[in-house]
Formats: sequence, C-alpha cells, structure tokens
Amino acid sequence: MSVLSQVKDAQVKDQSNTSLDSHSVNPTGDLLETLNIIQVSGLTKSVNTLEGSLTILSDINFSVKSGESVAIVGASGSGKSTLLSLLAGLDVASQGDVQLDGQALSTLDEEDRAQLRAEKIGFVFQSFMLVQSLTALENVMLPAELAGDHDARAQAITLLDKVGLSHRIEHYPSQLSGGEQQRVAIARAFIGSPKILFADEPSANLDSKNGHLIETLLFDLNKQNGTTLVLVTHDEHLAKQCQRIIHIEGGQLEKISVGETTSENTGKNVNVKEETSHVG
Ligand SMILES: Nc1ncnc2c1ncn2[C@@H]1O[C@H](COP(=O)(O)OP(=O)(O)OP(=O)(O)O)[C@@H](O)[C@H]1O
Ligand SMILES: [Mg+2]
Repeated sequence: MSVLSQVKDAQVKDQSNTSLDSHSVNPTGDLLETLNIIQVSGLTKSVNTLEGSLTILSDINFSVKSGESVAIVGASGSGKSTLLSLLAGLDVASQGDVQLDGQALSTLDEEDRAQLRAEKIGFVFQSFMLVQSLTALENVMLPAELAGDHDARAQAITLLDKVGLSHRIEHYPSQLSGGEQQRVAIARAFIGSPKILFADEPSANLDSKNGHLIETLLFDLNKQNGTTLVLVTHDEHLAKQCQRIIHIEGGQLEKISVGETTSENTGKNVNVKEETSHVG
C-alpha cells in the first residue's frame, strides 16, 4: 500500500470518528495536512469606511478536508458571505491566508486566482450573479465553454433538467422567478464537476420541494464525486446535513459543531456536538 493510500485510509477512519481533529487520532498528521483542501489561518478582513477601518472578520482559523461537507452559519451581518468570498479567492484578505488545494491564495495575483477558480471551484452567489443578456442555458454553459469543454451544451441541459428547469432553458434571468434564478446559478456552479463547491444560501429562495431537490443534488455531488461542499445557510436542516458546522458571530469563529450525520457516515447518529475551533 502506498503512503498516500495509507494516509487516505487513515483519513477515512478519522472521519468516522466523531473527534474531527486529525492530529489527535493520526500519527501521520503532517501528511494529513496536505489532504486539507482548505486551510484557513489567521484570516482577517478589514475595510475602510467613512467612519474609519471596519474589521469584518477577525483571526479565523479552521480547515476543511477533501470531500467534507461544511456549513457556515451565523446571524445576518456576521461575515459569512465575506468569509466565503475570501475562501474562493474572490476577495483578498487583510491579514492571514487561505490555502486552497495546497496553494496559498496570498501568493496568487487576480489572474491566477481566476484560473484556480475556473479549474477547481463552483460558486453560488447569494445574489446569483447571472449574466442578464444570456439565457438560462447560456449562463450554465458559460464556465464550461470558457474552459473549452466541447459538450458544454449537453452538460448544461442535463444540469438544468436536474434542477427542474428544462422548460425554462431559453428564458433570460429577468423572465425567471427568484427561485428559478437561484436554480440556474446552482446548475452553473455544478458544471465541469468542480472539486470544491461554495454556495451562499443555496436554498434561500426555494419552496420546500425545490429546496429538497437542491439539497439532494448537493449531497449527491458530495458523495458521488467527492466534491467538497462549503455552504453558507440560515437553513438549520441543511446545515445539519453537513458533517461540520462553523458558527460565525460578529466576525469571529465562535465554535465548530458536528452535524447530524447519518449512520451511513458514522455508524451511529451524532447530534450536534460542540468542538473547539482548531487549525489543522
Ligand atoms: N465592502 C464593505 N464595506 C463596508 N462594510 C462591509 C463591506 N462588506 C461587508 N460589510 C459589512 O460586513 C458585515 C458582514 O457582511 P456579510 O455580507 O459577510 O454578512 P453575512 O453574514 O453574509 O450576512 P447575511 O446573512 O445578511 O447575508 C456586514 O455588517 C456588512 O455590512
Ligand atoms: Mg451573506
């Protein structure tokens, strides 16, 4: 067995343990570090306002393992969207850093970060950010077309069908309801099977049927493709489906808890359990 296989094997055992601190259960902790697809260290974001400098996020530390599902929760204005943008390299930290799949974002310029996103990341924006002059189908195809994917159209049609929008593919965003636009944004984030999917309140505008549809899609992607999921959500049910829940309060990491993972993941039901913040 190769060293990497052993480490992966150890990681699976580690994930089946309700203690999620890799250092405490695995002698190959240093190697496991490399399997942290996201490593956040001392992440701080301040902005200049008319009233002076405002710190939106302060000294955030945590890591996410490859294939893990993580929810970020907290009150409105606590800094969740800002954190998600920093994790995806859409925004730049004031202090600290994010390592994304082994690359320190602080060492990349804007173009390199865009390249990294195109290769590895799907992002669902809270405000959808659909291109108004493109149809639903063209919006979903866009990232795959930019990546030179020849079957962009077929992939986009399949994804729009999966989000229940096969009857709306030629509609422009202005001709779609809020929930429909959200589902187009989700289909766009899925195209090209990204390694990491960041989604900012993916079920916020959906009724329970469509909310359930999106939830199923997200976790199928997570289980079948090993896609790492990082979801910002106010939806308690959705948060509990994730393996871990990161609680943000006033720009600080308050705690990390464990979700209600099923017997499939852990061999037993685990109710939300508090865990202290950790790096690594
Ligand atoms: N560019 C900016 N300039 C000034 N303040 C900002 C800026 N960006 C964000 N903020 C402030 O930082 C705080 C965190 O914003 P953020 O959008 O991350 O919150 P959130 O947790 O996502 O909230 P919600 O649940 O309402 O989406 C808010 O008080 C917001 O007003
Ligand atoms: Mg937000």
